[in-house]
Amino acid sequence: MIKTQKGLVRTVLLFIIVSLAAIFLIVKLIGGGLNVDPDSPAMSEDAIAERLKPVGQVSVLSAAGEDSTPEAPGSDQSAGAAESTPQATIAGKGEPSGETAAANVGDQVYNTSCAVCHGPGIADAPKVGDKAVWEARIAQGIDALYANAINGKGTMPPKGGAMSTSDDDIRAAVDIMVSKSR
Ligand code: HEC
Repeated sequence: MIKTQKGLVRTVLLFIIVSLAAIFLIVKLIGGGLNVDPDSPAMSEDAIAERLKPVGQVSVLSAAGEDSTPEAPGSDQSAGAAESTPQATIAGKGEPSGETAAANVGDQVYNTSCAVCHGPGIADAPKVGDKAVWEARIAQGIDALYANAINGKGTMPPKGGAMSTSDDDIRAAVDIMVSKSR
């Protein structure tokens, strides 16, 4: 297959380049493979326990009528216990209450559609957190703020340009902005 010295050199060079490329990719894969934000809610202990919990759980009614978790026959009992305990701690984790859900929507809308202008206070937008600027605006009453946020005011376009956002979600964002600015 390799007949000339030139051909040999070329083959060796090609082999080296391909190897280096492969090593580079493997190092990237190992070094940068797991890019996870440890502070994200998905990485909380509860969320991880929820993901790792067994798909199903067998429970057997004993003769006395009590619900008991079975131990694997012949094997050590700690394994059975380890399987059933996290189950008990996870049960009863409720959905977030309605109040926090609304706050989340407001935060989300604010961050995606309003913070561009109202975070730094560009284009004369009242800066969130700047109490002096917001005082007079808040004094108009919350309904006036809602209406101006929905219909637009001055250089601010209706809904800050986020036309697909519902009126209720805009109001939630206004609530967030106001609560951070009084
Ligand atoms: C393009 C920049 C921009 C974006 C995006 C923007 N705003 Fe504004 N906003 C302004 C400016 C400028 C004003 C001041 C208008 C004025 O008083 O003339 C303002 C004023 C307001 C006011 C006060 C109105 C009043 O009556 O004093 C509220 C409330 C408000 N914005 C809510 C929001 C909400 C909620 C969003 C996101 C859905 C948003 N804004 C997105 C620029 C923006």
